Amino acid sequence: MDATGLRSAGGRGGSPGTGTGVIAGWGTALPPRVVTNRHLEAFLDTSDAWITERTGIRRRRVGGTTAELAAEAGRIAIAHAGLHPSDIDLVLLATTTPDRAVPATASEVQDRLGVRGGACDLNAACSGFVYGLVHAHGLLALGLRRVLVVGAETMSRIIDGTDRQTAVLFGDGAGAVVLEARDAPPTLLGWDLGSEGSAAGLLSAEIGGMLRMDGPEVFRRAVRTTVGSARVALERAGVRAEDLALVVPHQANLRIITAICERLGIPLERAATVLESTGNTSAASIPMALAAAADNGRLVDGDLVLLAGFGAGMSWASAVLRWLDPGRAQRTGTNGAPR
Ligand code: COA
Repeated sequence: MDATGLRSAGGRGGSPGTGTGVIAGWGTALPPRVVTNRHLEAFLDTSDAWITERTGIRRRRVGGTTAELAAEAGRIAIAHAGLHPSDIDLVLLATTTPDRAVPATASEVQDRLGVRGGACDLNAACSGFVYGLVHAHGLLALGLRRVLVVGAETMSRIIDGTDRQTAVLFGDGAGAVVLEARDAPPTLLGWDLGSEGSAAGLLSAEIGGMLRMDGPEVFRRAVRTTVGSARVALERAGVRAEDLALVVPHQANLRIITAICERLGIPLERAATVLESTGNTSAASIPMALAAAADNGRLVDGDLVLLAGFGAGMSWASAVLRWLDPGRAQRTGTNGAPR
């Protein structure tokens, strides 16, 4: 026990640090059960053609718990970063589908992984991962060394299977990154977090209830707020849209992504998409699309990347990052042998 009598059992804190946050590793997890559009045709008044044409989604994955998926994605991300769970100072879990009301699902993730730092949930719906990433950058500035930022969802637990508007859209999954303090130039160049709580009724679920949505109005707002937020983040970053190597938008509907890219003046080919095979996985969608892009060699050292999320709240979040190759950016401080 320290002089204050308050020494924590396993948590981490710190005094303001000097490193910049580099995405040092990433990972994803999907449950094994695949639900195709054809499966949905069997019990909903819908069709594969309608879903594909109106959303771009062909299949989604369903099952597991949020903690299981988050821990699996987190385990892969930590290993990919060449780290051990004991190196992680904090698990920050963005989710809108926690496994319980109490405690935070992040606590189970922390235990499953063997992380000895802190853990908490963050709910900003589909914007949650970008909210989490911005928070993690702030925590590194306050002295933490490594934050595991996870977006994980089991949307299938709050979807009414008889509601064709929502049942065709959502899926389950998780994506995670390790944000690590490194001796490197700034990577978070500009960001914007927002919320319009007066519009909460457009997309909501009561505790224990099912998700209800005004699809067309959410569509309109998604395009408008994402474009507005992205422009603010780009301006703060001093980056022009045409200089972006990659856009990682929330994976809700390919028509929304197309409209956003058109309005920002970015060719659709520069957008990372996974929704065809995952559906809308809410807070998991951006880290899954980012991880897929990185795994497919679509990101090289120095690239400018825009992450852009929107969702229930209504909430929105944008971040302009300079992507640094984690193998090149030096680790800081005492564990600092460059990889
Ligand atoms: N299968 C078949 N027909 C469907 C359908 C479905 N799953 N859902 C709606 N329709 C029908 C409607 O009943 C309507 O029929 P009508 O013309 O005979 O009246 C027609 O398709 C068009 O409906 P509309 O709601 O205007 O379709 P849409 O093009 O807006 O697509 C969504 C519906 C839900 C796919 C779209 O509005 C959307 O993606 N909204 C955003 C949702 C979202 O992103 N939510 C999460 C935010 S994080």
